[in-house]
Amino acid sequence: MPSASDASDSSPEPHPLIVAIDGPAGAGKSTVAAHLARRFGLLNLETGAMYRALALKAVEQGTPVDDAAAVTTLTETTRIVLEPGNNGNRVLLDGRDVTALLRDPAVTAAASRVSVHPKVRHWMVTAQRAMGQAAPSGVVMEGRDIGTVVFPNATVKIFLDASVEARGGRRFLQTAGSAVAEDRVAITREIAARDDRDRSREASPLHPADDAIRIDTTSMSLDEVLACATEFVQAAVSRAGKYA
Ligand code: DC
Repeated sequence: MPSASDASDSSPEPHPLIVAIDGPAGAGKSTVAAHLARRFGLLNLETGAMYRALALKAVEQGTPVDDAAAVTTLTETTRIVLEPGNNGNRVLLDGRDVTALLRDPAVTAAASRVSVHPKVRHWMVTAQRAMGQAAPSGVVMEGRDIGTVVFPNATVKIFLDASVEARGGRRFLQTAGSAVAEDRVAITREIAARDDRDRSREASPLHPADDAIRIDTTSMSLDEVLACATEFVQAAVSRAGKYA
């Protein structure tokens, strides 16, 4: 597995490029990941969608999302497949396309709650590593623990952040008019609650890896954020010049 520190390695073996993007809800991870995937020809994997799919199954089956043993048992009979496309990931839950159901506010809240259970995280991380390693041309993977746990040796680690007000405002504009639209105050409150849970859980809480590049997007335009992220990845590619 390559890392930024492999740059002086003279090995002729091409390494797949692994770009890890972490950060809190609404920081723009999906937009940045999709852009980098197109720009560098990488597979784009949205790990949050996997937590959402498991949460959906728990909600549908009446499994209590705070019951670690029950949710862990649920994983034993669950198969989640991500199919990356131009407009994000298509998500298959036990063979059923559930993509359209995953942004429902009830599923969003449940996803944050199933993600606190260590055995559930272990199951997810194992699957995510396998998916990343199976991508011969490299991968951009976004989530909360990609640079810290899933791929600690990722080539480039980007941690995107922004104030909770900025993130709430962006989510509001993204969802306005859609089936899952909520008002700005409710969205911002929901994001703050998720932040709190994601950052304070015991198992791999959300925090930047020591070697992550942090981008605070609060007062940046989307174009500026994309240019900045692209520059970091391009620098890593040029430095190493040996990715597959
Ligand atoms: O990125 P997202 O909003 O789709 O993620 C939904 C939830 O899943 C989020 O509140 C926390 C959890 N999650 C996680 O714990 N680890 C990841 N790598 C991705 C998401």
